Amino acid sequence: DCNCCGVKVSAVIPEFSNPSVCMKDPQRVQDIMESMAKAGSNTVQVISDFDMTLTRFAYNGKRCPTCHNILDNSDLVSEECKEQLKELLDTYYPIEIDCSRPVDEKLPLMVEWWTKAHALLVQQRIKKDHLALVVRESDAMLRDGYQLFFDHLHEHSIPLLIFSAGIGDILEEVIRQAKVFHPNINVFSNYMDFDDCGVLRAFKGELIHIYNKREGALLNSGHFEELRARPNVLLMGDSLGDLNMADGVQDMENILKIGFLNDKVEERKQSYLDSYDIVLVKDETLVVPNGVLLYLT
Ligand code: TMP
Ligand code: MG
Repeated sequence: DCNCCGVKVSAVIPEFSNPSVCMKDPQRVQDIMESMAKAGSNTVQVISDFDMTLTRFAYNGKRCPTCHNILDNSDLVSEECKEQLKELLDTYYPIEIDCSRPVDEKLPLMVEWWTKAHALLVQQRIKKDHLALVVRESDAMLRDGYQLFFDHLHEHSIPLLIFSAGIGDILEEVIRQAKVFHPNINVFSNYMDFDDCGVLRAFKGELIHIYNKREGALLNSGHFEELRARPNVLLMGDSLGDLNMADGVQDMENILKIGFLNDKVEERKQSYLDSYDIVLVKDETLVVPNGVLLYLT
């Protein structure tokens, strides 16, 4: 039975009986999975968020850093800047996870957060050469099971699109240092722009924040055009803004949405159940997504 609602979950995969798993409509999940499995793994693509989806939310009771936090906590930024970034985080993160405020009210505030944070980072004259060390020394952790996740997708030539409002240079480094940055991966994110001396001078292109992933997907329609033969999507996110990451996929046949509910569980559970097919409550692992992938391949 589903742990939160008592609905019968058919034993599609054993991982669905894990205590973290909640579904509003288990039958729908089963139907989507059967339909995707029947179509074959060569019709599947995976679209995933990065921070707090592929990375852990917490470890031993301590919060793990986002891409931005990796820089914020490093000695690449001054003490004064650290304080200002911390102040931004304390102001805007509660707004990000506040489900009582509508998205159209939160959106301009999120743009404000990203814009201010990026402006502060640009003032710090961060050197490209220092990023790898800062990532190595950080507490960033991919979720348990990441090796199977990344390697399995690669072995089965399933494209993985990582769509992140974090920082592309940082997230690539996290994945590279974990030795799973395989050629089936594409990244849409905020990339740093360095001057000729390798000093950060701006962020490239259109800003990606948590609520414009739809626009980002449509801007990158060329990517999805290339994957036209893959109309079956496994989507993974931790924010309701992540639900639009697949909006650039043309002629979609099936989409299975897996959402990590890491924080403010009681307040947000219903809205997550209403929009994600599978909700993983305080689950720090990729065990369930891996179970789904093994079933599909
Ligand atoms: P994601 O789309 O890869 O999950 O990245 C977005 C996360 O980054 C979001 O949860 C908020 C977080 N963030 C920070 O931690 N610090 C910052 O300065 C900014 C702008 C965002
Ligand atoms: Mg996220």
